[in-house]
Amino acid sequence: MSPLPSELAYVPFVSVEHMMGLVHHIGIEKVLTDLAAEIEADFRRWPLFDKTPRVASHSAVGVIELMPTSDGQTYGFKYVNGHPKNTAEGLQTVTAFGLLADVDTGYPKLLSEMTLLTALRTAATSAMAAKHLAPKSARTMAMIGNGAQSEFQCLAFKAVCGIDTVRLYDIDPAATEKCARNLAQSGLNVVKCRSGQEAIEGVQIITTCTADKQYATILTDNMVGAGVHINAIGGDCPGKTELHRDILMRSSIFVEYPPQTRIEGEIQQLDSEHPVTELWQVITGQAQGRSDDRQITLFDSVGFAIEDFSALRYVARAIKGTPFFTRLDMIADPDDPRDLFGMFQRAEPEAAVA
Ligand SMILES: NC(=O)c1ccc[n+]([C@@H]2O[C@H](COP(=O)([O-])OP(=O)(O)OC[C@H]3O[C@@H](n4cnc5c(N)ncnc54)[C@H](O)[C@@H]3O)[C@@H](O)[C@H]2O)c1
Repeated sequence: MSPLPSELAYVPFVSVEHMMGLVHHIGIEKVLTDLAAEIEADFRRWPLFDKTPRVASHSAVGVIELMPTSDGQTYGFKYVNGHPKNTAEGLQTVTAFGLLADVDTGYPKLLSEMTLLTALRTAATSAMAAKHLAPKSARTMAMIGNGAQSEFQCLAFKAVCGIDTVRLYDIDPAATEKCARNLAQSGLNVVKCRSGQEAIEGVQIITTCTADKQYATILTDNMVGAGVHINAIGGDCPGKTELHRDILMRSSIFVEYPPQTRIEGEIQQLDSEHPVTELWQVITGQAQGRSDDRQITLFDSVGFAIEDFSALRYVARAIKGTPFFTRLDMIADPDDPRDLFGMFQRAEPEAAVA
């Protein structure tokens, strides 16, 4: 029999099943509110983090990305893909997993599924940004693109911003039906719309969350009235945007990390010097958010590594004392650190018998 792995060999692993169990156990709206607070707390200490645009590997049909960061004590990264053609093949557009590690030793501390966690953290980040940028009186949101992210977005805006009505639109009516069905018991008033124009009637917040591997125009300039907040999520790759350039020219634009957003966000359509405000500076009071009732605020979201780091740290804390993880024998940790080979040798079935 092989010698048992040392305690340090084990890394807590949160599977998809465990993540679903954990979120049901805590309650999804509480998780979204907690995550928004966790992410906001890390945005407040933004300068402390290692930051780099994510490392992207593009193909004709999609992208695979690595998103690393560190706060000097803990290191984290996420693997994530984006393949808009996947849903037609019965696959998800976005899947992800991620890891936290101890900077002192380099040993992993958590491995987790992040497909669900990405939807949760993206929704929490969107709502957190809107809390700082949208009109305070906002109660109605248009949700354009009713795919995998959409229900999470609607629930986060309900929990964090007090949205009570969502107006849904998708080019595929089956997606809108699915989203409306899933939100039926949520406490939100859900209105199914037949066009983007109909969806944005009377709303104070517009979320665009569509997937298409090309420059798309989900919103045109004439659709967007004064005073709205736009939460643009789907434009998150070179060549993949959702808003007409003229809307950007009329908006005050807020971003996560400019070097990444200039490559991937809506602002890839603009001059590289076009002024944008970093969201963390609004949160810390170093920059102004919404300045008047008629201003159009745009959160040009692409998703940044620090949001995943915050979400993983939240999960690492939340699973303690619960059954919602397993221990993976993931790190080879021999008693004598230089005797990796000896550990391997002792694991040979004959050696154990002799
Ligand atoms: N910013 C971030 O942090 C972040 C995080 C996760 C996902 N995303 C991006 O968000 C987008 C949506 O992700 P998802 O997982 O919900 O994808 P999904 O494929 O499950 O859903 C996308 C939906 O958009 C609809 N759609 C496509 N073109 C449309 C159009 N012109 N008008 C209206 N609807 C249209 C599709 O029919 C589909 O239902 C993707 O582009 C993804 O890359 C961004």
